[in-house]
Amino acid sequence: MFQLVYVSSVAAGQPIDIDAILSISRRNNRIAGLTGMLYADARRFLQVLEGEEVDVIATFERIKADPRHRAVVVLSRRHIAAREFGAWEMAHAAPGHDADALLARVEALSAGASPTVRATFAGFVEARRAA
Ligand SMILES: Cc1cc2nc3c(=O)[nH]c(=O)nc-3n(C[C@H](O)[C@H](O)[C@H](O)COP(=O)(O)O)c2cc1C
Repeated sequence: MFQLVYVSSVAAGQPIDIDAILSISRRNNRIAGLTGMLYADARRFLQVLEGEEVDVIATFERIKADPRHRAVVVLSRRHIAAREFGAWEMAHAAPGHDADALLARVEALSAGASPTVRATFAGFVEARRAA
């Protein structure tokens, strides 16, 4: 089992239809046996992909080439004993009116992750909240 975490910036002038991204992702990920989480706000994406290494890499190569985002930076890539973000085909977290609820959701989703990955997600949400 393999896990990849990346961050990227929403491409300028691209209206982002997050529901469209999620529905295609969930369909494809179900077929490929991939799971994970996508955090998205008006400026950034932070995504974790989990599954067999070959499937994670193939999907990530497709995602990386997607013109809806740019400056894709891999934060972590590692072998894991078991899925750390649960069985979601692609769980979604986004800022709403309640920043604490968002943080709680991200913390719940990342509860099984390694301390480093968990800290990455928590720090990211805190930073975006302060921005
Ligand atoms: C931020 C972001 C995250 C994405 N995540 C996934 C994903 O987890 N799985 C996936 O198959 N496609 C994902 N996509 C979409 C892919 O880039 C690509 O458009 C899609 O996989 C093409 O699917 P299709 O060939 O079935 O049309 C994502 C796109 C963006 C911009």
